[in-house]
Amino acid sequence: MPAFRIAMLPGEGVGPEIIAQARKVLEALKPLGFHAEVEDGAVGGVACESHGSPLPAETLSLVQRADAVLFGTVGDPRFDHLERAARPERALLGLRRELGLFACLKEVVVPPDLVRLSPLRSERVAGTDLLVVRELSGDVYTGLPRGQRCAPDGDFEGQREGFDTMRYAEDEVRRIAGIAFEMARARRGKLASVDKANVLETSGLWRSVVSELAAQYPDVELTHLYADNALMQLIGHPASFDVIVAGNLFGDLLSDAASALTGSIGLSASALLGESAKGMFEAGHGTALDIAGQDIANPIACIRALGLLLRHSARRPDLSAVIEVAIRSVLHQGYRTVDIRRSSTRLVGTERMGDLIADAARSGSTFTEH
Ligand code: IPM
Ligand code: MG
Repeated sequence: MPAFRIAMLPGEGVGPEIIAQARKVLEALKPLGFHAEVEDGAVGGVACESHGSPLPAETLSLVQRADAVLFGTVGDPRFDHLERAARPERALLGLRRELGLFACLKEVVVPPDLVRLSPLRSERVAGTDLLVVRELSGDVYTGLPRGQRCAPDGDFEGQREGFDTMRYAEDEVRRIAGIAFEMARARRGKLASVDKANVLETSGLWRSVVSELAAQYPDVELTHLYADNALMQLIGHPASFDVIVAGNLFGDLLSDAASALTGSIGLSASALLGESAKGMFEAGHGTALDIAGQDIANPIACIRALGLLLRHSARRPDLSAVIEVAIRSVLHQGYRTVDIRRSSTRLVGTERMGDLIADAARSGSTFTEH
């Protein structure tokens, strides 16, 4: 059998240093019988500089050949003056399109060890364990027409105006809702679908399609929430959620809000999936240019992204579990990067955190949380 091929796309900012830690953890899995071929590709601002494009053809052909993609971080305000299509962030949208990724899964768990890190009171956030399933290919992100023009009519006729099109076809809603129902079935059997059906036609269709599909999942308890209320509930009662499903735009907001519940966006990772097993996996936080290269970034989200890669693309849930156990045991021993530090914990840098988790994975440590 040919080796499993992973394309690693570090990008800029803290991307390269967190990807380097994931690579160490991958190495540590060798004794457990997992060997992958790793190839690096340029993406984002660094690719703008080296190749004149945020997603060069070489990188595209690399990801086409690969079995899975581990993505670092992209984004640099130095490129903000460029037209939108030439900016580093464009690489993300291009990869999603090229790989046909239409689902973004973000799991947010607040373990007992980290409960006091949350910006919310401990009793509110305790027990939070939820999954946001975000549709990733449609909605106002890609709907046409869109543009900027001179307003042809209306109260502001003659002024410059910007416009986008929010749209979803029923099959698009059905395939993402199907994933969400399946996930809910495999978890605690609760699904919250988020829309603005009180205002938007797109949401009206979304709600009907999700409701129709519910007939096939009598074991899943479905509720519909308006997006504003959903965000309010997420902050007020995070532990009441199991699976949340939303379109691209509302899902974007919900995913970040949900991951902020942990107290650091350096902890939870995202799996970007399509029809095939080939997915893209990322920490999902920004480039944090202000702390890049200082050995203080938290590599945990990126290492978790590797875990998701092993679970979803390499079909090795056992190895994914080894990584998760390694992370939890290192945290349980009190090791912390500065973003998740509290007094009486042991402060470590990016490299050391990577080494600790790699060592724990290598020894296949077992650990049970109390
Ligand atoms: C994300 C980001 C992207 C998005 C941006 C950078 C295009 O916020 O991955 O969630 O909105 O999808
Ligand atoms: Mg986002």
